[in-house]
Amino acid sequence: MKIGIIGAGRMGRALGRRWARAGHEVTISFTRDLRKLESIAREMGHGARSASPADAAKGADAVLFAVQWSTIDEALEQARSLAGRTMLTCTLPMTADDSELAIGHASSGAEELARRTGASVVAIFNTVTSELLSDDAEVARMRPDVVYCGDAAEAKLTAVHLARDAGFNPIDAGALRIARYLEPFGLLIAQLAYERNLGETLGYRIVLPRES
Ligand SMILES: NC(=O)c1ccc[n+]([C@@H]2O[C@H](COP(=O)([O-])OP(=O)(O)OC[C@H]3O[C@@H](n4cnc5c(N)ncnc54)[C@H](OP(=O)(O)O)[C@@H]3O)[C@@H](O)[C@H]2O)c1
Repeated sequence: MKIGIIGAGRMGRALGRRWARAGHEVTISFTRDLRKLESIAREMGHGARSASPADAAKGADAVLFAVQWSTIDEALEQARSLAGRTMLTCTLPMTADDSELAIGHASSGAEELARRTGASVVAIFNTVTSELLSDDAEVARMRPDVVYCGDAAEAKLTAVHLARDAGFNPIDAGALRIARYLEPFGLLIAQLAYERNLGETLGYRIVLPRES
């Protein structure tokens, strides 16, 4: 699959590395320091490339949107048209000081991105830490769950495929509006990982009732 990543930070790099290793054609983009982008792609290995957000998105089967909420205007402008694209977003709609959600209850960051871009948006990976995506062998062995939601069936199938290739067991939470619950859950995970010191590489599993 051709994957364009917008956001060359912790999440974009870590997911890109996993997907490149799984055999996908990954292109990473969006940084203030263009000189380092090429070395980020090189470090990701497995033929990963660097490009502008517009070039990364062009022709991609999936676009991962992984930027700070305060930079979405710039990121969307540089991506140009994302209409009709499959867009996976882990972006949390945080205030500029990263202390709380700027949108919630009546909407979500994912719905706002869908409205602004016309892309088929799937909210996913916003409930996992970047550390969980590290190369730690123990973490890879855990195969944690990841909840996701979206309105477009085909985009959700792509998300399932890419979640599995990133080492997760994907769990469908429903329509895109459910991102209103997923995004605060992402903050709960961050609270447990970073503030309650349960471990930055913590993951979660939904325990299902036993089949009789
Ligand atoms: N980190 C996590 O554990 C985690 C977990 C769940 C969800 N999330 C969410 O996922 C999203 C990405 O998080 P992250 O931790 O990967 O963020 P990050 O490490 O801060 O990366 C953000 C990326 O955006 C780029 N950027 C920032 N401002 C820019 C600008 N003005 N122009 C061009 N590029 C710019 C950064 O480039 P440079 O800094 O190199 O310029 C970097 O590539 C956020 O919305 C976050 O809330 C993060």
